[in-house]
Amino acid sequence: MGKVSVIGAGNVGATVANEIARRGIAEVVMVDVVEGFAKGKALDMAQAAGILGYGEMPRGSEGYDSIEGSDVVVITAGMRRKPGMDRSQLVAANTEIVTGISREIKKAAPNAVVILVTNPLDAMCYVAMKETGFPRERVLGMAGILDSARMACFVAMELGISPVDVRAMVLGGHGDSMVPMPRFTTVYGVAVTELLGAEAIARVVQRTRDGGAEIVGLLKTLSAFYAPGAGAAVMAEAVVTGRPILVPASVWVSGEYGLSDVFVGLPVMLGAGGLQRIVEIDLLPEERAALENSADAVRKLIAGMALQ
Ligand code: NAI
Ligand code: 2OP
Repeated sequence: MGKVSVIGAGNVGATVANEIARRGIAEVVMVDVVEGFAKGKALDMAQAAGILGYGEMPRGSEGYDSIEGSDVVVITAGMRRKPGMDRSQLVAANTEIVTGISREIKKAAPNAVVILVTNPLDAMCYVAMKETGFPRERVLGMAGILDSARMACFVAMELGISPVDVRAMVLGGHGDSMVPMPRFTTVYGVAVTELLGAEAIARVVQRTRDGGAEIVGLLKTLSAFYAPGAGAAVMAEAVVTGRPILVPASVWVSGEYGLSDVFVGLPVMLGAGGLQRIVEIDLLPEERAALENSADAVRKLIAGMALQ
């Protein structure tokens, strides 16, 4: 059985760890900087495992020895935004946190695939790739699954159907310039452009872009974690089990879609070893322009970061 480590045992991290343990697909370790926090969460999960009847009991730790031999390390550690805050306002604090964690991963788990969750997502992927020195195949960002799940949920609400029947696609950076793709959002293969009018589609697109802020606005002191945790767990599962999936994820581009030297959300095949292939689909000129605009926003954020 493989091993998944989760750094940051907060709301997202604990959700990822619990889901991997619940699925029984890997050994699970959580690390948190706050003494006792990861151990406490792990003990609680181990007791839930007894009630619900699943086998894997996560372990918690403050030290990085515990992540040795990990196939996947999910980074969820860091500050989250408060109401009215933009994700990019987290950049300074979280760059420092992700830098320190990446150095530890390089030492303790040099062969791991790293999945970033910490915001601002695409910029934190860059920090992790730079600090670990890992190839692009082994540094990925979770956001596309989440943003697509939000879009699928809003389409389902418009049509009065279950979100399980909807497959959506959101590309670009995980920020206000993300690019929801109605042409590639389907209900049993039928594009939503055939099912919803222009106004309803515009509503879905805007609500998707505002999806994170809507939840922060409601929760006030927290941000979303069930769907983000589920998204990261599914990515980790594909890598650790070697059962490939096609999902949108943030990857380092080297010429794909005419883009280079930036992390941006694109459709990818993930599986054993991490990124297996970036899937290039034909975009309309306006879709391509929106993707370029979103990649530019990430590029500007990265350019403004002070990395030592
Ligand atoms: P949280 O506050 O519940 O958990 C963060 C945890 O990180 C805390 O337990 C804290 O003690 C820990 N931590 C801080 N510094 C650390 C370090 N140096 N080493 C180890 N642990 C450390 O926050 P939550 O809700 O879990 O969010 C975590 C991050 O994920 C935030 O940056 C948030 O914005 C981001 N996020 C990203 C999403 C995406 O789509 N990419 C979606 C949801 C959240
Ligand atoms: C979200 O989209 C906060 O990035 C996080 O929910």
